[in-house]
Amino acid sequence: MTDGTMSDISATEPTAITAPSSPPVPISVERVSHVFDTGTPRAHQVLYDIDLVLNERRVGIIGHNGSGKSTLIRMLDGLIQPTSGHISVAGYDTVREAKEVRRSTGFIFTDPDHQIIMPTVREDVAFSLRRSGLTKAALDAKVDETLARFGLSESAEKPAHLLSGGQKQLLALAAVLITEPTLLLADEPTTLLDIRNTRMFASLIADLPQSIVMATHHLSLLTGFDRVVVFDEGRVVADGTPTEAITYYKRLMDTELALRNPTTDSREPSRERT
Ligand SMILES: Nc1ncnc2c1ncn2[C@@H]1O[C@H](COP(=O)(O)OP(=O)(O)OP(=O)(O)O)[C@@H](O)[C@H]1O
Ligand SMILES: [Mg+2]
Repeated sequence: MTDGTMSDISATEPTAITAPSSPPVPISVERVSHVFDTGTPRAHQVLYDIDLVLNERRVGIIGHNGSGKSTLIRMLDGLIQPTSGHISVAGYDTVREAKEVRRSTGFIFTDPDHQIIMPTVREDVAFSLRRSGLTKAALDAKVDETLARFGLSESAEKPAHLLSGGQKQLLALAAVLITEPTLLLADEPTTLLDIRNTRMFASLIADLPQSIVMATHHLSLLTGFDRVVVFDEGRVVADGTPTEAITYYKRLMDTELALRNPTTDSREPSRERT
């Protein structure tokens, strides 16, 4: 652990992207701003003129709590509409063509309770395939295979709400990936996972053929990513390789900590840098 908000598992277990595959899903974010509760006394702006053209398969988004990561990532799926500006995903406008965007994207929420719908684990995974047109036998086989892949076979008949938080996160992931979306949007998908399952998640996304945009505080998950964007107070403040972006982010943190606590000697190397 580096501090209370992040863990850095890469120190012990580096992960690498191993699977070259489908061409990346192009994403364009053009002068996007967002104001929540617009037109009310509670109105507050959380994103300012974001411009991003993403043509990479693995994109990470990092930044302090409240910096606007979830707001942006939800916009990529059309779940939130920009107050101004435009976003397109695979050439589709996320407001005017939200249906087309949703058809090819899968979204993993931080809180898995948001996406568990059916009573049992098996039913919940199978529910994702309700419009697949598969025969019952083919559907059952695919569900079995997916449950096994996510270590959920033994819990197949369990009530989904009785799973642990981490198991629910795995279930949510299974229910999304079984639909084989071309773009996976993940908003802190590993917050409830233990180290073993976080590693499992890292190696799983490393092998996925899909494009991924993931917001995370687990910086080690970004090893092997093509690009990482750093948000701060609703603006993009750094954008580069994982090493460049993470170095910038840690410096930003150090600077803010030093400003908040001027008695601390900021020349002292902090423990997480050793
Ligand atoms: N539905 C909402 N209504 C009003 N304000 C919101 C809403 N959702 C988010 N906000 C505000 O928008 C800002 C950005 O929030 P957001 O959830 O995008 O941050 P984040 O970078 O994902 O933070 P975290 O790391 O804590 O998940 C915060 O000030 C938050 O309070
Ligand atoms: Mg968030």
